Amino acid sequence: MTTEWYVRVPATSANLGPGFDCLGVALGMYHELRVEEGEGAGGEIEVFGEGEGVVARDESNHVYRGMARVFERRGYKAGRLLVRSNNEIPLARGLGSSAAAYAAGVAMGTLVSGGEVDRGEVIELGVEAEGHPDNIVPAILGGFTVTGVGAEGMGYVRLELPAELKAVVAVPNFELSTEAAREVLPGEVSFAQAVANQGRVGLLVAALAARRLDLLRTAMEDCLHQPYRTDLVPGMDAVVRAALDAGAWGAALSGAGPTMLAFVGDEVEGVGDAMVGAWAKEGVEAECRILEIDRAGLQIERGEK
Ligand code: HSE
Repeated sequence: MTTEWYVRVPATSANLGPGFDCLGVALGMYHELRVEEGEGAGGEIEVFGEGEGVVARDESNHVYRGMARVFERRGYKAGRLLVRSNNEIPLARGLGSSAAAYAAGVAMGTLVSGGEVDRGEVIELGVEAEGHPDNIVPAILGGFTVTGVGAEGMGYVRLELPAELKAVVAVPNFELSTEAAREVLPGEVSFAQAVANQGRVGLLVAALAARRLDLLRTAMEDCLHQPYRTDLVPGMDAVVRAALDAGAWGAALSGAGPTMLAFVGDEVEGVGDAMVGAWAKEGVEAECRILEIDRAGLQIERGEK
């Protein structure tokens, strides 16, 4: 008899405009992970979907690294592992693919080694290794999350989003690493920029909590990171404008990019086409998807076979 475990972690979009490194939302697009443990040692990693044929299948694999970290922490010696990743989240596009893979690995490592999955612990280990709480926290908790780091460590809160809210993502056909997108950021910004952005972060959190979607257009403006990233994401401003003109509540760069995200209500159609069309005018090919907000975050199952 072998035991099989199943873990599912959603895609995420970080920043949402002004909330650089602190705001994030979970999206209905998933990294699913199945692991069987049998007699022996060693094992195999199979990757299907996004990253198939590209993602490393050795010890540098994000899922594997997440699992290995937990095994090490718990002093667990695993048997022979068959790891099967089925990933819908496009890689290096600002949709939290590495956070999802790593978090899935941490949760799976806990299950395989016989532990109870504690979401707080998965967040702690995930942030420690992956470094982006604005992706890890919503990936584990689902919904919309606010994270802040202070002298006493990290705090986070999950908020429910209005039921009618959906996300349109326009995913261009080029990759951008978070590292490269952070290199272009300035070491310092002006007091005026900081003040403008912190007002909008507060407004965005309050507007989402109070269901004042009409305020998102203003609340999702940013002057801390997006302007510095426009050269890396040609057409960024035109895509935001196209989304708003087509009726989106608000739009922004998704995480470090290059994907663009717009929030829409139930009845709005054509926002994705408008975003893709604006990009086409800049010579960028993109695909759009309308996604539900994921409200569950990390999901796990265990079965015998
Ligand atoms: N907040 C990060 C950035 C992305 O914009 O660089 C987190 O994945």
